[in-house]
Amino acid sequence: MTISVNINDKRITGKRDIMLYGHFIEHFHRQIYDGIFDPGNPLSDEDGFRTDIIEAMKKIKVPVLRWPGGCFVSSYHWKDAVGAERKPLFDKAWRVEDPNTFGTDEYIKLCRKIGCEPYICTNAGTGTPEEMSDWVEYCNLDHEGQYAKQRIANGFEEPYDVKYWSIGNENYGYWEIGAKSADEWGRLVRESAKMMMHVDAGAQLSAAALSDIDWNVNLLKNCGQYLDWISIHQYWDMMAEVNAPASYEECMAFTKDIARSVDEVRGILTAMKLEDKIKIAFDEWNLRSWHHPNVHTIRQGVNAEDYVEPRDKNDDNSTYTMADAVFTACFLNAMNRNCDIVGMANFAPILNTRGCIYSYDKGIVLRTTYHVFDLYVNYLGDTVIDLWAKDGIPAMNVHSKSGDEVSVDTLDLLAAKWSDREGISLAAVNKHASESQSIALDYEADNAEITMYSVIGKSVDSYNDRDRNDVGIQEKKLGRFSRDMHVELAPHSVNVIQIIPV
Ligand code: AHR
Repeated sequence: MTISVNINDKRITGKRDIMLYGHFIEHFHRQIYDGIFDPGNPLSDEDGFRTDIIEAMKKIKVPVLRWPGGCFVSSYHWKDAVGAERKPLFDKAWRVEDPNTFGTDEYIKLCRKIGCEPYICTNAGTGTPEEMSDWVEYCNLDHEGQYAKQRIANGFEEPYDVKYWSIGNENYGYWEIGAKSADEWGRLVRESAKMMMHVDAGAQLSAAALSDIDWNVNLLKNCGQYLDWISIHQYWDMMAEVNAPASYEECMAFTKDIARSVDEVRGILTAMKLEDKIKIAFDEWNLRSWHHPNVHTIRQGVNAEDYVEPRDKNDDNSTYTMADAVFTACFLNAMNRNCDIVGMANFAPILNTRGCIYSYDKGIVLRTTYHVFDLYVNYLGDTVIDLWAKDGIPAMNVHSKSGDEVSVDTLDLLAAKWSDREGISLAAVNKHASESQSIALDYEADNAEITMYSVIGKSVDSYNDRDRNDVGIQEKKLGRFSRDMHVELAPHSVNVIQIIPV
C-alpha cells in the first residue's frame, strides 16, 4: 500500500528557530574534563580543546550550548573558576572533585570556537540573586564594577555578551541540591531576574519549570513579566539507576508521547495570556537518561565505587542504536511542528555520557543521533509547511517498556521549505522495525529533481564504534520528480527528501 502525502507550500505553519537543534554540556563524567577539555592530548589545541570534537560540533552547526549543568550547577560557584587562582570544588551533586580549570572564560572560548551562542544556567540551589547577577556583570558589563574589571584583568577586554540565561535547573526535584517549593521558587526567580536585568536589561531569562500547573502558575504570576523563556526537561527511557536500555519496539512506544509536556505548558501559557511573550526552552532532552546509580541518595554506606564507576557504562557505544536515531528524529519533527512556542531545545548532552559524540584519547565516534542532527541541520528547510496524509497513516502495535500494548503511527512526517532558496524538503521517519513504507507525494513541481538522504542501519540495533561505521547518511538520487512516483522508506530509517527545481 502506498501512503498518499499532500504538501501545501503556501500554508506556512511556522519558521523554526535554528536553536531547536541546540545542545547541552555538563560537568559530569567525561563531558568536560577528559572530553572537550583535554590539555596535553595531541589532538587538543593551544587552549586545551579537542579539535576533532570541535570540528564535529561545527559540522552540525551547534547553534547554542547550555552549560555548566544540570544538577552540577546547583552548588557551583562561578567565582571559584575564573582567573589564575582556581579553587577546586567538591561537586556535591555528582560527588567528585572538579578542578575548576574549566570555568566561564574557557566556556566562552569554546562557544566562540564552535560558533554558537552561550547559554548559562545559574546556581539557584545554594546560590543567591546577587551571585547570579554578579555573573551577568562579569560576562556582560563593559567595564563597570569589580566583576567586569576582573574579566578585563583576566585578559578578556571585550564583554562576552551572553544573551541567554537560565535561572536554575530542576529546582522542583527532590534530587536537586537546594530544591525549592513552588512559593520559594516564585520569589527567588523574581528577585534573581530583577537583579540580573538591572545589570543587563537585554538578557533573555528562562527559569526551571516542568509541566505542573501549580509550579508554573506560581512562577508565571510572580515572574511572567521578566521571563522570555520557560525551561522544561524530559528523558523517556529512565536509566539513572538501572542500565537496561529499552528495546527498539519499546522506544517506538515512547514516540507517542513526545509532545505531551509541550502541549501542557502551551496550555498554561495560553491560559495566562503569555503565549506571545514566553517561549519554551526544552533545554534538556534525550531518549534515554544518563546512567548514574546511587548518587542522589542520602543513604549511609554508599561508597564512591557504587556511584562513580557505573558511570562508565554510558560509554558502551553498542547501546546507541537506530532506536535512538529514530526517536531523535521524531522529537525534532515534534519541535518543528510546535515551533511557534518552542524556540530552543538542547540535546543532553552533546559529548560522552549519552551524547551524540563519543570521544576517547585518540579520536571520536559519531553515534547514530549525530547523523540525525547532521540531516536536520544541513538538509531540511527552515520554514515548516502544511502536510497531511489524505487517507491517514497506518498504525502499528508495539509493547511499551511497562508492558502495555500501544498503537503508534508507522510514519512521522514533516514538510519544510527554505527561506533563502527554492524547493521543499520532507523529513520522513519510518518507525517500523522490519517493513519499508511507500509514499507518494501530492505536490506541484513541474521541473524538479528529487533526492533522498537517509540515516540508515542494517538492523534496528546497528551502531557505530571505534572499529565500525555502520550508520551514516546515504544519498540516493531519484531523478525527475513526478506525482505518481513512489518513494520507498526503508525500515527503521530517518530520511530527508528534497524536491528542488532545476
Ligand atoms: O542525569 C543528568 C541530569 O539529568 C542532569 O544533570 C539534570 O539536569 C537531569 O535531571
